[in-house]
Amino acid sequence: MSKLFSPLTIKNVTLKNRIVVSPMCQYSSVDGFANDWHLVHLGSRAVGGAGLIFTEATSVSPEGRISPDDLGIWKDEHTPGLERITDFIHQHGSIAGIQLAHAGRKASTASPWKGGKQITAVNGGWQTVAPSAIGFTSDIIPPAELDSAGIQKVLTNFKAAAQRALIAGFKVIEIHAAHGYLIHEFLSPLSNHRTDTYGGSFENRTRLLREVVTAIRSVWLAENPLFVRISSSEWTNGGWTIEDSVALASILKSLGVDLIDCSSGGNVAKVIIPLAPGYQVPFAEAVRKSGILTGAVGLITTAEQAEAIVAEGKADVVFFAREILRNPYFPLQAVQQLGDEIEWAVQYVRAKPFKN
Ligand SMILES: Cc1cc2nc3c(=O)[nH]c(=O)nc-3n(C[C@H](O)[C@H](O)[C@H](O)COP(=O)(O)O)c2cc1C
Repeated sequence: MSKLFSPLTIKNVTLKNRIVVSPMCQYSSVDGFANDWHLVHLGSRAVGGAGLIFTEATSVSPEGRISPDDLGIWKDEHTPGLERITDFIHQHGSIAGIQLAHAGRKASTASPWKGGKQITAVNGGWQTVAPSAIGFTSDIIPPAELDSAGIQKVLTNFKAAAQRALIAGFKVIEIHAAHGYLIHEFLSPLSNHRTDTYGGSFENRTRLLREVVTAIRSVWLAENPLFVRISSSEWTNGGWTIEDSVALASILKSLGVDLIDCSSGGNVAKVIIPLAPGYQVPFAEAVRKSGILTGAVGLITTAEQAEAIVAEGKADVVFFAREILRNPYFPLQAVQQLGDEIEWAVQYVRAKPFKN
């Protein structure tokens, strides 16, 4: 049996294989609601055989949305539409996960196909918030610095979102602490210039994430996995480093986090990232050495590449984004390339390739 198609049990949840559909914004919601697009998009990937399927960054509050079109989970009315999706995914033997997010200073922007620029309040946008009043770029209205009541509200929002995620039937939560969004902004000394207990030292900058983890763990079933996506490195002198990530991973593990999804970048504009196949895999490998499960992500596009990552002990699961967007049936083809077996949806069995 290939390593990529071997099951993985985390707490009480068993993934049938190590292929994870990475969170991918769809910018297709109205007022945060899931709709037919989300069912078809995520459902196709369940039919395609992925072990774990994450929703896109799902906002815990209206002001935490990247764009007005983001998926949300800030009110009870959002849960039935999400439950329809988790039911479908589970019927097809995959596991449904949700990425909980707050976009911080990168909120209130137009969806990519609407221009991707900041939307001001008069045009239907809103005042963004962040650890410090420093804009991602200098040409936009800067965020407002969160006060302690604002931080408490963020914590309450993440906790309530986790409660709703449970009701909606998700089995895995991933906290989005990467890509320059709110939690990452607190982690980084480049975007966090606070002088209170949430800024300055490593301990203070990691406080918000630690508190979010604890708030979620207080309502999330103990037997359900909790993942955290981090930007393992900011690729910038003076920024967050892989050494910081390794130190953070052990702390998160002690708070009940099961897996670190090792992405990078996103908090510093115009930084040069050495893009190449599997360029972030060394981060997953380094963090894994601290004794926690990891996910590798980024320019992983073939069965052989993913198999090697898992077989060589560099990561426990592989997140696919653009490749599985191009081809929702990637796992069905990958399994054949690795000479392995996977169950097909009964409706599609007649298309199963013959064995030589
Ligand atoms: C259309 C699109 C939307 C994305 N949205 C998210 C998101 O909601 N949350 C997130 O953490 N990353 C998001 N990403 C990043 C991916 O999850 C992934 O980390 C990145 O694309 C690298 O993987 P790849 O080379 O397999 O595409 C998005 C990527 C794409 C292409």
